Amino acid sequence: MTSKLVAPSILAGNFANLQRDIEMINQSDADWLHVDIMDGVFVPNISFGMPVLHAIMRHALKPLDVHLMIIDPDRYIKTFADLGADILTVHYEACTHLHRTIQAIKAEGMKAGVAINPHTNVSLLEDVIEYIDVVLVMSVNPGFGGQSFINNTYKKIKQLKEIIVDSGSNAIIEIDGGVSNDNAIELIEAGADVLVAGSYIFGSENPVTTIANLKEQINTQD
Ligand code: DX5
Ligand code: ZN
Repeated sequence: MTSKLVAPSILAGNFANLQRDIEMINQSDADWLHVDIMDGVFVPNISFGMPVLHAIMRHALKPLDVHLMIIDPDRYIKTFADLGADILTVHYEACTHLHRTIQAIKAEGMKAGVAINPHTNVSLLEDVIEYIDVVLVMSVNPGFGGQSFINNTYKKIKQLKEIIVDSGSNAIIEIDGGVSNDNAIELIEAGADVLVAGSYIFGSENPVTTIANLKEQINTQD
């Protein structure tokens, strides 16, 4: 069994002290650093843009998992590649020509991720699943950290897993929103490969230990 990954979301970090939080993630067992970019249009919130991402990049040692919650993301694919994104995830709901967008992300040397909102049926990915590296299943409505996990996500993961296996795709499944030690095992059992966690990690007393425990928890069950 390949190992299951943990991706702390810096959205829940201390924006007045990002360097400290990124160095904490560097030293932890985290696999990826999840970075949320919001434009205030696709989602009702603005997070941060290129100058902040550039500053994050200068300190980050973990692979950068960039989650774009922006309309028309094609405009910025090259910019994010130049900024050092390793995985670039766009929203299904924000792309008119998703197949083309996926190709453009890969052409820039990044892994292509496609995120789906809670209301988006996984079957809509069937015709592009073979090209996708990561499917990010939103388990809250995107835009804010600290929201409650939507239980319908388990069903979606199982359906998605079936689509991936049937198509022979190598896509892995990432879950984002309301993840904690309460639902981690069930998510992995449903078919998840990567868990994003923001407030659960940064709201804990010792984030490094929380990451280590979460990582151990999801890798010691079968
Ligand atoms: C929400 C973001 C998430 C967020 C998760 O729109 O995409 O990555 O940071 O935060 P928690 O883990 O607090 O739900
Ligand atoms: Zn995210």
